[in-house]
Amino acid sequence: MKIALGSDHGGYDLKEIIKAYLEKNNYEVIDFGAFNKDSIDYPEIGEKVALAVKDGEAEKGIITCGTGLGISISANKVPGIRAALVSDTFSAKMSRAHNDANILALGGRVVGPDLALELVQTWLNTEFEGGRHGIRVDKIKNLETKYNK
Ligand code: RB5
Repeated sequence: MKIALGSDHGGYDLKEIIKAYLEKNNYEVIDFGAFNKDSIDYPEIGEKVALAVKDGEAEKGIITCGTGLGISISANKVPGIRAALVSDTFSAKMSRAHNDANILALGGRVVGPDLALELVQTWLNTEFEGGRHGIRVDKIKNLETKYNK
C-alpha cells in the first residue's frame, strides 16, 4: 500500500518515526516533507498530502503537526478528504470502520511515539464497514457539493 506522509516542523520528529515504521513494514511511502525542522506552514503540507490521496497517487495519508489540528483542518478543505485527528486507539479504529477516513492526523506534541505507532497500525489495519455508515459518508460527500459552489 502507498502512503502519503507529511508534517510541519512541529510534527517532523513523529513523521520520521512513522516513516521508518512504515518502510520497515514494507509500505511504500511518498514523503511530502517537512524535510527538516525549519519552520513551515502546515496548510502547504496538508494540501500536498490531501491532493496525493484525492488523486489516487497514494491510497491513504498520514499527517502530523504540533497538535494535528492545523494540518487536519487544512487537509479537510480538499474535496474527497476525510482526515481524522485521533489520540486514542478506539477513535483510530472507528475513524476507519465508520467514517472511512482516508487521512490519519496525529499531534507530534500530543502523542508519544509508541502510542502513535499503535494508532497508525490500528488505523491501517481497520476496514471501512460500509452499510449504514456508507450512507452517512455519502451525506458528508453531499455537503461538499452543497457548499463548494
Ligand atoms: C506550529 O508551531 C504549530 O502551531 C503547528 O504545528 C500545529 O500545532 C498547528 O495546529
